Amino acid sequence: MAPSAQPALLTSVSSDEKYANVKWEELAFGFVRTDNMYVAKCNHGEDFQEGKIVPFADLQLNPCAAVLQYGQGLYEGLKAYRTEDGRILLFRPDQNGHRIQAGAKRLYMPYPSVDQFVSAMKQVALANKKWIPPPGKGTLYIRPILFGSGPILGSFPVPETTFSAFACPVGRYHKDNTGLNLKVEDKFRRAFLSGTGGVKSITNYCPVWIPMAEARKQGFSDLLFMDAATGKNVEELFAANVFMLKGNVVSTPSLTGTILPGVTRICVMELCRDFGYQVEERVIPLEEFLESDETFCTGTASIVTSIASVTFKDKKTGFKTGEDTLAAKLYDTLSDIQTGRVEDTKGWTVEIDRQG
Ligand code: COI
Repeated sequence: MAPSAQPALLTSVSSDEKYANVKWEELAFGFVRTDNMYVAKCNHGEDFQEGKIVPFADLQLNPCAAVLQYGQGLYEGLKAYRTEDGRILLFRPDQNGHRIQAGAKRLYMPYPSVDQFVSAMKQVALANKKWIPPPGKGTLYIRPILFGSGPILGSFPVPETTFSAFACPVGRYHKDNTGLNLKVEDKFRRAFLSGTGGVKSITNYCPVWIPMAEARKQGFSDLLFMDAATGKNVEELFAANVFMLKGNVVSTPSLTGTILPGVTRICVMELCRDFGYQVEERVIPLEEFLESDETFCTGTASIVTSIASVTFKDKKTGFKTGEDTLAAKLYDTLSDIQTGRVEDTKGWTVEIDRQG
């Protein structure tokens, strides 16, 4: 077994060759070493060619690679679902393809075409089919990465870029998925205007691990970040977009370049309109957010998760959670589409296999 795998999770429990030996009931959101990954490389001045599926292995990297020296890297996240009637579906992989392109432009990198990206995601899912959890037990989270692999010290462009993708079976990302207890982060900022908050740059994440670790120690589930310009307006969680409901209006912070344009975010806005809500993308002052009837967060990993409370300067404000919430309705509707339990009239799912 690989040293980095989760030993308890991988203890053999099944002799069914359709599935890897995983204790599906115990799936968390963490790294699990699966069988195969996708790798494509591109030299400066050339286009990405079709890559290939190779056995999962450590990547060899020049110590002077641009990603290690200057943080030139992006990641994406999307999921493969096994349906009860034996199909395997991807959810809107083209959206991740477009988003990685936007990120690559921002970080001055070459990028694969959307068709290449989607094809790579299909290949990774199928090459790790045994790791796609049984229906209702989790999903296969696919992690595409695009990074400067060529050495660069003082000058750019970077001589080589790598596009790779691996996959791990996962359960829910937020452990307390019945309702998150958030803390408003009033010191550290996640993103600033004209920075990289609007793309999935790898550099956006660990700079806020200090307050995240502190919040976890204090028993909070996650942080609610404020805008860097004023410190007064709600932006997003560590890795999820945020929504508020007041009356018949669903609001979410607008995309000003500091907020990630989440794939689940756009789906949820569309579903809310279908349900008859008025949907607004706008600036949301924290004061107003705290007066919501209900709040929730969205993301590929988070799906749709209710926010039970928000604590700002030791004052805790509670929100409605449970089955009779918009968040619950959105979660059910989205999950039904993603897992093929209802007909996908929106064309969001991509079927990649029929025998399951
Ligand atoms: C995702 O939702 O795919 C993310 O990128 C969040 C990550 C921290 C797991």
